[in-house]
Amino acid sequence: MHIAVCPGSFDPITFGHLDVVRRALTMFDEVVVAVATNDAKVPLLPAQVRVELARQVVADLPRVRVGLVPGLLADYLQEQGACAVVKGIRGASDVDAEVPMALMNRHLSGVETVFVAGDQSLAHIASSMVKDIARHGGRIDDLVPGPVVAAVHAALAERKGGR
Ligand code: PNS
Repeated sequence: MHIAVCPGSFDPITFGHLDVVRRALTMFDEVVVAVATNDAKVPLLPAQVRVELARQVVADLPRVRVGLVPGLLADYLQEQGACAVVKGIRGASDVDAEVPMALMNRHLSGVETVFVAGDQSLAHIASSMVKDIARHGGRIDDLVPGPVVAAVHAALAERKGGR
């Protein structure tokens, strides 16, 4: 059984992420969408909400499960028995950001990272931009699945209301 982990902040999960998960499924027996903490980012959505949204939007994909990474990704990879990390690459800046993490994860766990070029028609989608667009009243329904649209709007409204 070859298990791959697709890690990310998923704040929120987008159509671009789902494309990468589908591509990972063509190479591995099982794919774990792993919601992790990126200390360089302040998330809009709490981790448990990100996990729940990911579960909803991968529900129709066989051989995919969703997990929460409680600490180091390297430890999670070993705990899951993963043979690979799969990450999507949209362009050169993704390579610059991802290669150091791939090297460190290999150093810590021995697990290799496989980089996948996502669908070019989705290459403009980034979670940070999705949040920015929604914050300024723009449409995000062609960037993220339906349940995510609602959750992002709810989280922004809550934040605006100071709750
Ligand atoms: O979607 P992102 O923010 O690019 O994903 C980065 C993420 C969350 C996968 C990375 O920050 C991570 O692995 N966080 C877990 C803690 C960890 O293992 N840090 C060391 C990474 S080399």
